[in-house]
Amino acid sequence: MTTILINIRLLVNTRTTSALLRGKALAELPVMENAYLVIEEGIISEYGSMADLPSRYLQQNNILDIQGGSVLPAWCDSHSHIVFAGSREGEFVDKIRGLSYEEIAAKGGGILNSANLLNKTSEDELFRQAWERLEEVRRQGTGAIEIKSGYGLTVDGELKMLRVIKKLKEKSSLSIKSTFLGAHTFPLEYRNNHQGYLDLIKSSMLPVIASEKLADYIDVFCEQGFFSPEESEDICRAGMAVGLRPKIHANQMHLSGGTQLGVKLGALSVDHLETMDESAIQALAHSDTIGTLLPTAAFFLRMPFQPARSLIDSGCAIALATDYNPGSSPSGNMNLVVSMACIQMKMLPEEAINAATLNGAYAMGLGSELGSITTGKKAHLLITRPIPSIAFIPYSFGSSLIRGTILGDDILLG
Ligand code: NIG
Ligand code: FE
Repeated sequence: MTTILINIRLLVNTRTTSALLRGKALAELPVMENAYLVIEEGIISEYGSMADLPSRYLQQNNILDIQGGSVLPAWCDSHSHIVFAGSREGEFVDKIRGLSYEEIAAKGGGILNSANLLNKTSEDELFRQAWERLEEVRRQGTGAIEIKSGYGLTVDGELKMLRVIKKLKEKSSLSIKSTFLGAHTFPLEYRNNHQGYLDLIKSSMLPVIASEKLADYIDVFCEQGFFSPEESEDICRAGMAVGLRPKIHANQMHLSGGTQLGVKLGALSVDHLETMDESAIQALAHSDTIGTLLPTAAFFLRMPFQPARSLIDSGCAIALATDYNPGSSPSGNMNLVVSMACIQMKMLPEEAINAATLNGAYAMGLGSELGSITTGKKAHLLITRPIPSIAFIPYSFGSSLIRGTILGDDILLG
């Protein structure tokens, strides 16, 4: 199937070749004005200026007139937990009344609360709920998403989550990557027997995950009160031994050592980074590991925002993601993430859009097939209503500018 998009006011992130962007390069966002774009069998086969549109295209009946809207690579959300059961707005109110995230976790709430519910929920019901969230984020412009396990914390629960993600991969038009996060927190019965839970992960979860190919990456919540750097390293190395590259929850509440651990292990990304010092920033800047910033999690937990400026100015490669989960970011809206990055973290609109598209794709191992308007890449595109400029996207926070998405041959336009 061939589709020809015409009258695109701004065609954003056009690149002949693509590479991970770090430091100053993040501020360079190539844009073509008044453009057309051709999709063949779901792949970007050609694009150019409307003035050069070959006339033979106008005789075809598969033309989609974008009518002055703009076209971007669909958002690449490289960190989410969208497979979960129910919701936790009760804890949200507890927090308003004064409890901290850590106090809620210490009394068996938080991740354990979600794990309890998830273990009582059937695989079909979990799939149904996750599918609804996936459809929702697609309507908001997301075309690729990474999804983690981590609310099972039992062999059956973790495998159930990963099988749901596998089914989402099979049925959805979005590109999906799967991450095993068995080390999200210690289940209550292992609170005083950490080694017992590490052994359960290594001897009963990882072998099945590897043999059934249920995950692409391994993750650990490296944080005080959760997994120490030594425990995190142990788990990551066990995952690496079966081919899973780490993506680590690092430096969220404390200087956990997670960033340096990720760099040492060659992690694809270290994520969160609310609490950074110069040594963590320099370690990241001199590595190939991507720093994934999750501004809506900082916002929802009333924490300081990630130091995006220091990270970028030190030469780090930065991605932006939602962390969509029931405890610290019950939103998967990448438009809001991009706005918050600009408003609260002083990222330039160009930097934020690159971090939410091309670098997000790299943070999922999908940089060579998604994240920019490059011939040969998958045509995963988001279409906006007419907008005057690129900066209008983060500027108009909370407005719904997305008209729809094109994910290969699957076109969904409002
Ligand atoms: O990425 N930080 C750890 N995990 C999640 C929150 C999990 C939860 O509270 O359910 C996060 O923020
Ligand atoms: Fe997370």
